[in-house]
Amino acid sequence: MEPFVFFGGKGGVGKTTVSCAYGLKCARDGHRTLVVSTDPAHSVTDVFDQSFDDSPRSVEGIDGLDAMQIDPEDEVTRHLDEIRQNLSEQVSASMVNEINRQLEMAHGTPGAYESALFDRFVDVMRDADDYDRVVFDTAPSGSTLRLLGLPDLLEEWIDRLMYKRRTSIDLFEKAAVGNNEPRRVMDGDPVLRRLEERKAFFEFAGSALHDDAAFFLVLNPDELSLNETRRSIDDLREKGFAVRGLVANKLTPSPDPDENGRGARYLRERVETEEARLETIRSEFEPPLVAEIGWRSAEVKGDLLADVAAELDVETAVEPPTHV
Ligand SMILES: Nc1ncnc2c1ncn2[C@@H]1O[C@H](COP(=O)(O)OP(=O)(O)O)[C@@H](O)[C@H]1O
Ligand SMILES: [Mg+2]
Repeated sequence: MEPFVFFGGKGGVGKTTVSCAYGLKCARDGHRTLVVSTDPAHSVTDVFDQSFDDSPRSVEGIDGLDAMQIDPEDEVTRHLDEIRQNLSEQVSASMVNEINRQLEMAHGTPGAYESALFDRFVDVMRDADDYDRVVFDTAPSGSTLRLLGLPDLLEEWIDRLMYKRRTSIDLFEKAAVGNNEPRRVMDGDPVLRRLEERKAFFEFAGSALHDDAAFFLVLNPDELSLNETRRSIDDLREKGFAVRGLVANKLTPSPDPDENGRGARYLRERVETEEARLETIRSEFEPPLVAEIGWRSAEVKGDLLADVAAELDVETAVEPPTHV
């Protein structure tokens, strides 16, 4: 399978748990693996009982497995600071205040959060030479993936800007004959450089996500989760990404056949309802169900993680990346 694997789904369904379990499985099969977690509320830190931050660190007791934790809030701040820095170098001082005001407002928008996180993911993918596989515990939404169309737009901007710069540099040259200055001005143009950087960045993101990534969705056996999953499948497909498989998590365990108390009857009814929902998934959803994971009585960590890993029917073999 592709070197980059994403597990998407709504909050609390078990993305982090499943990502860690899959990471464990990959590492045990001999692949150098990195798990990238994004949720500060329940993250790799809780699953592995070890603290992680935003640079990879090896998971104690598991050879070949590293983990890192990205705080989306920090990423937004970092992202906006970077924009501010870039812009301040390029515009007059009088505009800086207005830019700061706009950026403060942008901080609170959901788009800022997602796009900052997306930037960080792409950075991690670009910098993943040490790993055979990188597992992300969330998947970019359709609206984020729309950003992958950006290179074409940037190309147009770059062309137009080049044209304008060239014209003004031509004038400049006519005024200052016999000087090498104009070429240098063009080459060192910070706006142009920035646009070209962003273009290369999104081109990489597009090819890495299209050719070197597999998307899975984690869901729970309830109506809400099924509906959400259906929407995500469509949303991703619309942007040109097929969901590879579905992971059903937190399935109610069956009681023993000879048990007939109230608890057992309740469990049996639940199992029946959930089985009907799984049947809906099997017959109506395009991606196959690749795991049916039972609801444990405690948080999934330690030995339980290995149990869950064993229930994941997701291959670990790594195809070499096609991106450079
Ligand atoms: N199969 C399971 N059995 C028991 N608890 C689970 C199971 N899967 C996840 N959990 C628990 O549910 C909570 C949410 O899981 P998590 O993986 O953090 O979800 P997400 O990353 O999608 O928000 C955690 O406390 C986790 O330990
Ligand atoms: Mg999580």
